[in-house]
Amino acid sequence: MAIVHVLLVALITASTSHGAAAKTWPRDLAALAKAGRLRTDPNATVAASTDFGNITAALPAAVLFPSSPADVAVLLRAAHSDPNWKYTVSFRGRGHSVMGQALAPGGVVVDMPSLGGASSAARINVSADGRYVDAGGEQMWIDVLRATLQRGVAPRSWTDYLHLTVGGTLSNAGISGQTFRHGPQISNVQELDVITGYGETVTCSKSLNPDLFNAVLGGLGQFGVIVRARITLEPAPARAKWARLVYTDFPTFSADQEKLIAPGPDGSFGPFSYVEGAAYVNHSLAAGLTNAGGFFSDADVAAIVARAAAKNATSVYVIEATLNYDNASAASSVDQALKSALAELRFEDGLAFVRDASYLEFLDRVYGEEAALEKIGMWRVPHPWLNVLVPGSRIADFDRGVFGGILQGTDIAGPLVIYPLNKSKWDDSMSAVTPAEEVFYAVSLLFSSVANDLKRLEAQNQKILRFCDLAGIWYKEYLAHYTTHGDWIRHFGGKWDHFVQMKDKYDPKKLLSPGQDIFN
Ligand SMILES: Cc1cc2nc3c(=O)[nH]c(=O)nc-3n(C[C@H](O)[C@H](O)[C@H](O)COP(=O)(O)OP(=O)(O)OC[C@H]3O[C@@H](n4cnc5c(N)ncnc54)[C@H](O)[C@@H]3O)c2cc1C
Ligand SMILES: *[C@@H]1O[C@H](CO)[C@@H](O)[C@H](O)[C@H]1NC(C)=O
Ligand SMILES: *[C@@H]1O[C@H](CO)[C@@H](O)[C@H](O)[C@H]1NC(C)=O
Ligand SMILES: *[C@@H]1O[C@H](CO)[C@@H](O)[C@H](O)[C@H]1NC(C)=O
Ligand SMILES: *[C@@H]1O[C@H](CO)[C@@H](O)[C@H](O)[C@H]1NC(C)=O
Ligand SMILES: *[C@@H]1O[C@H](CO)[C@@H](O)[C@H](O)[C@H]1NC(C)=O
Ligand SMILES: *[C@@H]1O[C@H](CO)[C@@H](O)[C@H](O)[C@H]1NC(C)=O
Ligand SMILES: *[C@@H]1O[C@H](CO)[C@@H](O)[C@H](O)[C@H]1NC(C)=O
Repeated sequence: MAIVHVLLVALITASTSHGAAAKTWPRDLAALAKAGRLRTDPNATVAASTDFGNITAALPAAVLFPSSPADVAVLLRAAHSDPNWKYTVSFRGRGHSVMGQALAPGGVVVDMPSLGGASSAARINVSADGRYVDAGGEQMWIDVLRATLQRGVAPRSWTDYLHLTVGGTLSNAGISGQTFRHGPQISNVQELDVITGYGETVTCSKSLNPDLFNAVLGGLGQFGVIVRARITLEPAPARAKWARLVYTDFPTFSADQEKLIAPGPDGSFGPFSYVEGAAYVNHSLAAGLTNAGGFFSDADVAAIVARAAAKNATSVYVIEATLNYDNASAASSVDQALKSALAELRFEDGLAFVRDASYLEFLDRVYGEEAALEKIGMWRVPHPWLNVLVPGSRIADFDRGVFGGILQGTDIAGPLVIYPLNKSKWDDSMSAVTPAEEVFYAVSLLFSSVANDLKRLEAQNQKILRFCDLAGIWYKEYLAHYTTHGDWIRHFGGKWDHFVQMKDKYDPKKLLSPGQDIFN
């Protein structure tokens, strides 16, 4: 109701004050409005009123289309210094949030892609020695990848999907199958340029203004806007052996996953560059496997379903892992390395499936799924996603209660991703929050509502969280959306007081990223 109300009020304001709104802007902003870069027309505001989640919507009063970081600084300076200023400000990367985190109800949305202008080339610079790349906060990871590959290098830590912005994922953490090895994306940043809530541009790193650097990484857009990030690179592999290994019981699956992410005595890792996994509850098994990005053939699906039946399995689990290699390595040596690695694992006999892909093809794999879903009208549907980080000591209980319990017998559209991470690769002085144990699992229940069942799926998510609460499973939500202050305090735990101090220091008027619902 509240959201609908905001929408209506904003619609009325936008349509009746068209043109009039411009008069109320402070002088420097009036100039941006005159230049057509600060717009209040519905074409601009309606496009900035929704997100990928397709669940919540709210109209902003205006949208800034900055032609350079200086335009954003002008907006933030005006917002800070004008005593009559009444607008919140959000930074919209690609709006790939799922619960309105990039919205600014009745406020100003900064359309970050405008910073890139016509060509992204000038906003992605690889260093002469190929050790780092400076990327605009608005740049998409896919463009960073393409630009760095041209120099034979690439970032080390990714998200599953690359059509997200650098500033957007760094405001959360940025996790994927490389995180066990290299840490989340926020552990791979050397330096940032941030425009704070004062409109001041500050360069920060572990040694220069470290409190801002640590606050902004995983900081949910609360302290300023990332306009440049310096990201660590490595030599790019040319190709990847891409394996999926099938299990019919959870303890064997998770033991193998943890084995794959464990460092040896000398701290070095095994042969796999990337380790993830997925769960398929029996009821939705065939559909889930068929929709796994086209990886499994019909014959593969039939073989897996038959084995699940023979084992009377209530769920099937699949480890996904890649072994990167470069052009110089002989194909036979890669195959030998893979064979030796697989021999150490206890997946179902004969149920190992291996593809071969270029590094780019592998990293950009979800984009192919997007195109396929878009074609059949299944991409722009509600996404009641639930992302939780679950302590390793309780993951078997989580499996029993959720995959083996709450989700049994349900129709599931969307992957159920589950893989372990090691806390030692996370920097606890940054804002991102993880569970208290050394090993914890990233669990992403990426539901799509395709059968007019949003309410049922939302209730199911609540049931899952309630189950965890009652069982004393001390999870932390990732990409959290809380609506009460108490939930945020609990989420940040020991980090809360510092988070508030940083807010008072860098955005004292509490205007930034209101869609996170932390201070508004
Ligand atoms: C298909 C899909 C797959 C995904 N897979 C993964 C995954 O594997 N791993 C993972 O970690 N995440 C994943 N995500 C989640 C993703 O990290 C978030 O959606 C994130 O918000 C990035 O999206 P965005 O760039 O569009 O940011 P937006 O949604 O536009 O913004 C998110 C928040 O960050 C703030 N913000 C945006 N840009 C900046 C900036 N430059 N400086 C400061 N604050 C900023 C905004 O105000 C907002 O509060 C996935 C999302 C989708 C849709
Ligand atoms: C809004 O979009 C429509 C359709 O694209 C266009 O005709 C109209 O001129 C636009 N209005 C503004 C104010 O940009
Ligand atoms: C959801 O997406 C549909 C189709 O694009 C759109 O018509 C609707 O307005 C969206 N709803 C929200 C809340 O984003
Ligand atoms: C990239 O280099 C160009 C030319 O030196 C510079 O103008 C631009 O600001 C740089 N971009 C980033 C994101 O560092
Ligand atoms: C590997 O070889 C292919 C085909 O010859 C080439 O296109 C690619 O650039 C090479 N990659 C690397 C990292 O050398
Ligand atoms: C987690 O990482 C630390 C540091 O590398 C290592 O000592 C520890 O063994 C790892 N834990 C597990 C369970 O793999
Ligand atoms: C198969 O599994 C179901 C559900 O776990 C159980 O009720 C049943 O007894 C099992 N049957 C056999 C033959 O093991
Ligand atoms: C799994 O699903 C199949 C097909 O729907 C069904 O025949 C079988 O009984 C189910 N097994 C369990 C353990 O639930």
